[in-house]
Amino acid sequence: MSVLLLAGSPSSPSRSTALLDAVADRLARRGVATDALAVRDLPAAALLAADTSHHSVQLAVDRIAKAQAIVVATPVYKAAYSGLLKVFLDLLPQTALRGKAVLPLATGGSPHHMLALDYALRPVLNALGARHILPGVYASDAQVTLTPEGAYQLQVDLFDRLAEAVDTLAAEGLKLGPRPAAFEPVHFSQVRCSV
Ligand SMILES: Cc1cc2nc3c(=O)[nH]c(=O)nc-3n(C[C@H](O)[C@H](O)[C@H](O)COP(=O)(O)O)c2cc1C
Repeated sequence: MSVLLLAGSPSSPSRSTALLDAVADRLARRGVATDALAVRDLPAAALLAADTSHHSVQLAVDRIAKAQAIVVATPVYKAAYSGLLKVFLDLLPQTALRGKAVLPLATGGSPHHMLALDYALRPVLNALGARHILPGVYASDAQVTLTPEGAYQLQVDLFDRLAEAVDTLAAEGLKLGPRPAAFEPVHFSQVRCSV
């Protein structure tokens, strides 16, 4: 069993990748093996040309295929996920995420774009066949601060939210613990909104 940690930020260091690092720590404590793939490390020309015959791209696609679950992290760019992540997702086979659990993570400069995970990324993960897309974790830049040493530090409540997300991933995506009762699907006519 392994979990692939997919980093979709073009930047290094990266706030959204810091969220992935915290998830990796938590998974390691549960004895779950992880594999880290940063899209920014793939050859740009092959990505932009969707060159699936390129060796590095093939290896990356294979790593996706081998993972039981994917944790994907992206910065919010222009109210959606990063273009870098998009070019990678676009070259995956149509059913690349079939049968897999996916935990989406994002960071953004503003808390106002927290729904980008749901309105932008989630439909794409769904189109790729993800079996179970877990509730995502969104953090604003103010919650991921830079230490004088140059490392990113997560606020305590963000750390707790990530820990909870990992526990859910372990229970529902990796079946490591007792599975919480599943929710029945709710018909759209029954959905209530409040502002
Ligand atoms: C080109 C660009 C576009 C951005 N667009 C948004 C945006 O629409 N909404 C937002 O909240 N933050 C936006 N940001 C801020 C980043 O999402 C934020 O700083 C994020 O934490 C960066 O993550 P990273 O360090 O993993 O790349 C943008 C940043 C850049 C560079």
